[in-house]
Amino acid sequence: MPESLSFDAGKSEVLEFEVENVRYEYDRIPALQGLSLRVRAGECIALLGANGSGKSTLLRLMDALYFACKGTLRFRGTALTEAAMEDDAFALGFRRRVGLVFQNPDIQLFNPTVFDEVAFGPLQLGWPRAEILERVHATLAWIGAEHLKDRAPYRLSGGEKKRVALASVIVLDPDVLLLDEPTAALDPRSQSQVIDLMESWNNGKKTIITATHQLEILGEISRRAIVLEHGVVVADASPDEILANTELLESANLIHSHRHLHGGLTHKHTSPYLRHEHRKPD
Ligand SMILES: Nc1ncnc2c1ncn2[C@@H]1O[C@H](COP(=O)(O)OP(=O)(O)OP(=O)(O)O)[C@@H](O)[C@H]1O
Ligand SMILES: [Mg+2]
Repeated sequence: MPESLSFDAGKSEVLEFEVENVRYEYDRIPALQGLSLRVRAGECIALLGANGSGKSTLLRLMDALYFACKGTLRFRGTALTEAAMEDDAFALGFRRRVGLVFQNPDIQLFNPTVFDEVAFGPLQLGWPRAEILERVHATLAWIGAEHLKDRAPYRLSGGEKKRVALASVIVLDPDVLLLDEPTAALDPRSQSQVIDLMESWNNGKKTIITATHQLEILGEISRRAIVLEHGVVVADASPDEILANTELLESANLIHSHRHLHGGLTHKHTSPYLRHEHRKPD
């Protein structure tokens, strides 16, 4: 691998990601505009923001699927550019270290069986056959999906698809896991299973960045929360600080006030599903 494309450019403190003033446009319409952010190794970060605020776009740039139109996005000291990803040694090393689980598993899953799906990444990376077999079985067992191994992914339920998509990335044991809404549309048991899997996989050593709308799981999945609004960072603090800032949550469209049919009172919710009390004004 050429020196300029190494994973440690010789800095004293190597950051996992260094995002500097990044702009990204879809057909000249900006999705990220001057976004800056630093991610240290081992951090668990939640990425928050209303629909269209740029969370998925940022994760795709961090996974080198898209490239910054302006500004720089570095992974361990090397700028993620099309030229860098055309270097086979760098691209292989990057794909081995960073994995993205898509918001929509239907985009991610395309193999004829669940087993093939989970084996796909290791096959691409040229792992020995015996190791692939062992790792795929172990990952399917860990995620509780061994019984699904011969099924066609497109015939699975939404929650099963999400777990298989997660398995297809985790099988590579990346250092950095980028998760786009991993618990959205899951029933409560599947949701807590995915959170448990994230916790047991992380074990304090991995870097996990999770885009989510679910404020009620913030404390379980992150130690730092970053709020995006119109493609820029508007807040970067601990989950507790973010959750306590009602004004910010409301302006970033993460909570809303509404009127209940019962009682006619207007108040704010972090989630429509959270248990809450209604008190009449004194
Ligand atoms: N493939 C695309 N083509 C054109 N515009 C896009 C595309 N994907 C996203 N956008 C636009 O870019 C902006 C950011 O979208 P993005 O998907 O990153 O938001 P998000 O924060 O992930 O939203 P959500 O919470 O709905 O998943 C939005 O204005 C969106 O309409
Ligand atoms: Mg999204």
